[in-house]
Amino acid sequence: MADRYLHLTGTAPGRFLTRRLGLPQPAPLRRWTLETPRLEGPLLHLTAGDSAISDELAKVLAATGLTVDAQAARPAGIVLDATGVTSVRGLAEVHAALHPVVRSQAPGGRIVVIGTPPSSEDHHQAAAQQALEGFVRSLGKEIGRGSTAQLVRIPAGAAPGAAESTLRFLLSPRSAYVSGQVIELTTAAPDPVADQDAPLSGRTALVTGAARGIGASVASVLARDGAHVIVLDVPQAQDDLVRTADRLGATALPLDITAPDAAARIAAAAPDGLDVLVHNAGITRDRRLANMPADRWAQVIDVNLDSVLRTTDELLTSGTLNRGGRVVATASIAGIAGNNGQTNYAASKAGVIGLVRSLGPRAAAERGVTVNAVAPGFIETKMTAAVPLFIREAGRRMNSLSQGGLPVDVAEAVAWFAQPGSAAVNGQVLRVCGQSLLGA
Ligand SMILES: NC(=O)c1ccc[n+]([C@@H]2O[C@H](COP(=O)([O-])OP(=O)(O)OC[C@H]3O[C@@H](n4cnc5c(N)ncnc54)[C@H](O)[C@@H]3O)[C@@H](O)[C@H]2O)c1
Repeated sequence: MADRYLHLTGTAPGRFLTRRLGLPQPAPLRRWTLETPRLEGPLLHLTAGDSAISDELAKVLAATGLTVDAQAARPAGIVLDATGVTSVRGLAEVHAALHPVVRSQAPGGRIVVIGTPPSSEDHHQAAAQQALEGFVRSLGKEIGRGSTAQLVRIPAGAAPGAAESTLRFLLSPRSAYVSGQVIELTTAAPDPVADQDAPLSGRTALVTGAARGIGASVASVLARDGAHVIVLDVPQAQDDLVRTADRLGATALPLDITAPDAAARIAAAAPDGLDVLVHNAGITRDRRLANMPADRWAQVIDVNLDSVLRTTDELLTSGTLNRGGRVVATASIAGIAGNNGQTNYAASKAGVIGLVRSLGPRAAAERGVTVNAVAPGFIETKMTAAVPLFIREAGRRMNSLSQGGLPVDVAEAVAWFAQPGSAAVNGQVLRVCGQSLLGA
């Protein structure tokens, strides 16, 4: 559904009027296209404190394809290495580094602060590093003009290149609707990526709920990145599913994911195993708890959570999920913040977060498989087009970017989790919500 307000503020009279009324000013977001795959402008690499990873970080930033320029007057991206900030006094260096340059950043810019996990043994280091989280989340809320800010924590002893896929994603148009996020990397070494333009080539990915909406977009982005995709949706959606499959050169698998034999049918459709498993299928059956019959509760838990647990377990233990595989589940900001009338939905989506955090480390230790989740905010789909006007407008505007996201924004985040270079990204829940005020 078209966002008419975003269109209005893109016109001179509309901008004048809405500014006079003190209304939100959403900037059109620059997303990935074949013609503009990168940020347009140089990258500024700054350091606060004594960093032990300066050289490694410089190598990784050079690999992003952006021009690193210490004198850039109008940087498209700013990376502040704050891993060496180990005391509260050191925070002054964070201010000193960013205060003079933040205003000069180009519209649609990216600020990435690099930190390190807060220590459980040194509370001064922990205070300083945790301070970066509040700093970045506030910066995301104030920079405006379609710019974003994130914190990436790199642990001591991280493998060379562990942060590359994450910085490539965050310092690109692919992360247009991601802001105010904290990503904590592990020390795992990245699996090799032969071609950065097609990081999933030779890999097989399965996407559930792919006949339409976010799932169809995920399938399309994974295919763009070189994967052979199997698209799954309920038999009633077969026509749309086949259309999606034909468009992408994908394989259609009409199947209800709650069927008892779902994992076996998926395994049969992927004789060489699966490299990427995306749990996207999801439903809502909203009612306040006092009015919610047991069947509405059960349907939502079954589709959104139980089937995710069942199929993941079975595909892992049967070995269908190949070594080095990637599981990406779909949570929601409702699972973080809760929502009126959505006790069933929010419970199911919070359950997904529990699954990801618990299974991620074990799956990586045992099979080199990562398990992560996207938590979309307000995304423009048929699901949100059905939301009443007032609530829909509130959902669109109540985030730092003052607009709804598009299915492709979620798809780009899934593709980042899915790629071989993202081995150090595990057990994470990435909100793709424009830094929604809900659950902030
Ligand atoms: N749209 C949003 O703003 C938003 C926000 C947060 C989370 N999400 C989540 O993102 C995912 C996709 O949402 P969407 O907006 O594209 O929804 P959608 O309703 O447009 O698409 C969901 C798809 O899942 C399929 N599906 C439902 N039950 C299934 C089952 N049992 N087996 C197989 N397929 C099934 C549907 O047929 C449909 O094609 C869902 O998990 C949803 O909860 C969406």
